[in-house]
Amino acid sequence: MDYSKFINPHASQRNPSLIREMTQMLATAEPGTIFMAGGFPNPEMFPFESVDVRVDANIQVHLEGSALSAALQYQPTLGYPPLRDELKRLIYRDHKPPKFDDMDGLVTIGSQHGLSGIFGVILQNGDPVVVPQPVYSSALAIMDPYRPVYLAVPEDSLGMQPALLKSILDKWSSSNSHEQLPKILYVNPTGTNPTGAVIPTERKREIYQIAEEYDLLIIEDDPYYYLHFEEDDPVSFLSMDTSCRVIRLESFSKVFSSGIRVGFAFGPKPIIRQLELLTQHTVLHCSSLSQVIVHRILEQWGPAGFTEHTKKVKAFYRNRRNLMVSAAEKHLTGLAVWDVPRGGMFLWMKVLGLKDTYQMLMQRGIKQGIMLLPGKEFMPDRSITYPYVRASYSVASHDDIDKGEVISARTALSSYIYSLV
Ligand SMILES: Cc1ncc(COP(=O)(O)O)c(C=O)c1O
Repeated sequence: MDYSKFINPHASQRNPSLIREMTQMLATAEPGTIFMAGGFPNPEMFPFESVDVRVDANIQVHLEGSALSAALQYQPTLGYPPLRDELKRLIYRDHKPPKFDDMDGLVTIGSQHGLSGIFGVILQNGDPVVVPQPVYSSALAIMDPYRPVYLAVPEDSLGMQPALLKSILDKWSSSNSHEQLPKILYVNPTGTNPTGAVIPTERKREIYQIAEEYDLLIIEDDPYYYLHFEEDDPVSFLSMDTSCRVIRLESFSKVFSSGIRVGFAFGPKPIIRQLELLTQHTVLHCSSLSQVIVHRILEQWGPAGFTEHTKKVKAFYRNRRNLMVSAAEKHLTGLAVWDVPRGGMFLWMKVLGLKDTYQMLMQRGIKQGIMLLPGKEFMPDRSITYPYVRASYSVASHDDIDKGEVISARTALSSYIYSLV
């Protein structure tokens, strides 16, 4: 594939930073190489003696001496090499990308960093972009300043609908020139934020086929991959990527810690190289300490231990999803409708009899002591009103979930009555 057409003129002008390139070279340099090229501060002046992290009785991280110095020092932009290798192994284990050797990975500061970087090297003002509707609001927030034309593909309970994707693209391409065709299809396939859908494999194959036909890069933003409630793990777009057009964004936020800020971008080498150059010039790299801690824990767990942990995470969120759905059934039946989330952390509801939930949530809801997100936030076109609400079941206690639904019911009812007068 020729990737040059995907890279915007701004990114294609970006030169490598020699210091960063040499820091990368150092990672594989002969032992004993004297490194006087970079501006590495001397770790003797860092005021840390040791760092200890305890996961449980068996898994602990103790850093001191040279291990601590490495964890407190600059690292290559692509990531702390042992972690990067480990993450590549995990990608291979879970997805077996057909074009694995043509792809590369960069340790990101969470999935959001990967997203903003990838959009930043591809998008140009006014570009058309394919997104699901509804769509992760912070993806819109990155794209909005480019004033893109959102080719919004409605979701049903199984996520983005291939037939609609095809007809939207057919229509767009019949009335626009070749240069105005979209380059990106953004999708968040597992436990979709906000709907909780998990796109089934067959549907993914159809979407992939359409992306082939229209030569689209697929941005597979999948931070809830380990938070699905299905029998089998989803088959990713990456695992069916025979033509090397998928950029997969993974995140440790939901399974490890959101504050540790570690994720992984994996995709075609030329695109990852662009992300590397942008990262070289902006944040340099993901926190070394975070990367070392994540690596040490993964190393001690081994792949089987990591899988064990993700099983616990799934069971935990499945239980919370069940609590949320029972509370909604108890208090909101007749007032709202929803699909049972198949993954993720959110219940997406349509409030019946209301045109707009914005006023209801931002004014009456907050006054009554409940904060829920209005559906409008997740809509590519925010110039009109929507009757949707996103409720998160990730951290609210059982009692709060129940109480929250009672208040939601009261608020929805009062809003409905309010809208009639
Ligand atoms: C769909 C989606 N993508 C990306 C992110 C950002 O995650 P991270 O913490 O890995 O940056 C989130 C966080 O909620 C999300 O829901």
